[in-house]
Amino acid sequence: MNEQRQAAPDIAVLRRALPVLERVVYLNTGTAGIAAAPVLRRLWEEVALFETEGEVRYHEMQERMEAGRGRVAALVGAEADEIAFTRNATDGVDLVAWGIQWREGDEVIISDQEHPAMNHPWFYLQARGGPKVKMFAVEPDPEATLRNVRALITSRTRLIASSHVSCQTGIRVPAKDLCALAAEHGLLIFLDGAQAVGQFPVDVKALGCDFYASNGHKWLHGPKGTGFLYLRRDRLDAVRPTHVGAGSFVRPVDLDDIRLMPSAHRYEYGTRGYGAYAALPAAVDYLAGLGWDWLEQRLANLSTYLKVRLPEVPNLTLLTPRSWDLSSALVSFTVAGRTSQEMADFLWHTSKIRSRTFPDKAILRVSTAYFNTEEELDLLLAAMRQMVGR
Ligand SMILES: Cc1ncc(COP(=O)(O)O)c(C=O)c1O
Repeated sequence: MNEQRQAAPDIAVLRRALPVLERVVYLNTGTAGIAAAPVLRRLWEEVALFETEGEVRYHEMQERMEAGRGRVAALVGAEADEIAFTRNATDGVDLVAWGIQWREGDEVIISDQEHPAMNHPWFYLQARGGPKVKMFAVEPDPEATLRNVRALITSRTRLIASSHVSCQTGIRVPAKDLCALAAEHGLLIFLDGAQAVGQFPVDVKALGCDFYASNGHKWLHGPKGTGFLYLRRDRLDAVRPTHVGAGSFVRPVDLDDIRLMPSAHRYEYGTRGYGAYAALPAAVDYLAGLGWDWLEQRLANLSTYLKVRLPEVPNLTLLTPRSWDLSSALVSFTVAGRTSQEMADFLWHTSKIRSRTFPDKAILRVSTAYFNTEEELDLLLAAMRQMVGR
């Protein structure tokens, strides 16, 4: 992420490319990003090519998708043949969880702040006789988080899986140290970067992970239905494709001597909506055009603005660390005596603010994206004060 541009973008201009912002205070990029008009245009064009011309465009669309793969790979520091396109980040978790040849008694360690994208596959796998799932507590202090993981590692542990950024608290886990810890113990490590890619630079090689899943639809503000999974090249054979079809095998295919593609293409097959993947570069280029450093600084500034002021709201407990390096543009809190649904409903009905509830933990989460403004965050702060009666 080192493309730069000189002048800081004009937020008012950027917002004009996102018409929903005229009606809504959109603080939920963490659930679904919104695409700027030029990205959307490109998506329509890419989709239209295949939808209107069908087979005439088949190979061209595949090539355009390959260009998308290259762009995504470059974004996260991978080689194109280490990237499998998926429908979403969850697909990447399932692909790895079900693809590994588990042994009797194996254990996996996941965090206690996972999205269902991680929780559901691993617990379902456990219920179906797969590895036992253990959970470590994510803490604001990265050293404490690492200690918690270390304490769970046994001779039976085979894999550690964690969100790079917790969807519940916005805490950024010490991903590089986690990878080093896994390597030290000969374990596989899977990172779920659904809340990381597009917020700050991610370099899968520098992190040292085996697997990294993410999507195009949150912080890349790209098409829904696009996800990707990085698999370190020498881990491809450790993850057996659960599903295969046209495209998974080396051609010409000898059915009596089947050979999987030597790349992450082995996990892909059949006809897909190539246009959405082909449009991903437009989403990445749009953000690159804003300037990656500017973008990250913008997210850091907005989230910090909020984190400094939110604790002034009576009875509110901030769950997200102040430091940008330990956090992200997800800001989470609880308010004593309030459910998260009550808070979300209040914000929506009084101020047209979109947020994300975590009902089990009474957490409310807001996301500060590049297009949000301090005025919008002031609206949130005022609504919160109004809600608690002060
Ligand atoms: C950490 C994390 N992982 C995975 C997901 C799910 O992503 P997808 O819908 O692309 O599967 C989310 C979505 O909120 C998330 O926050």
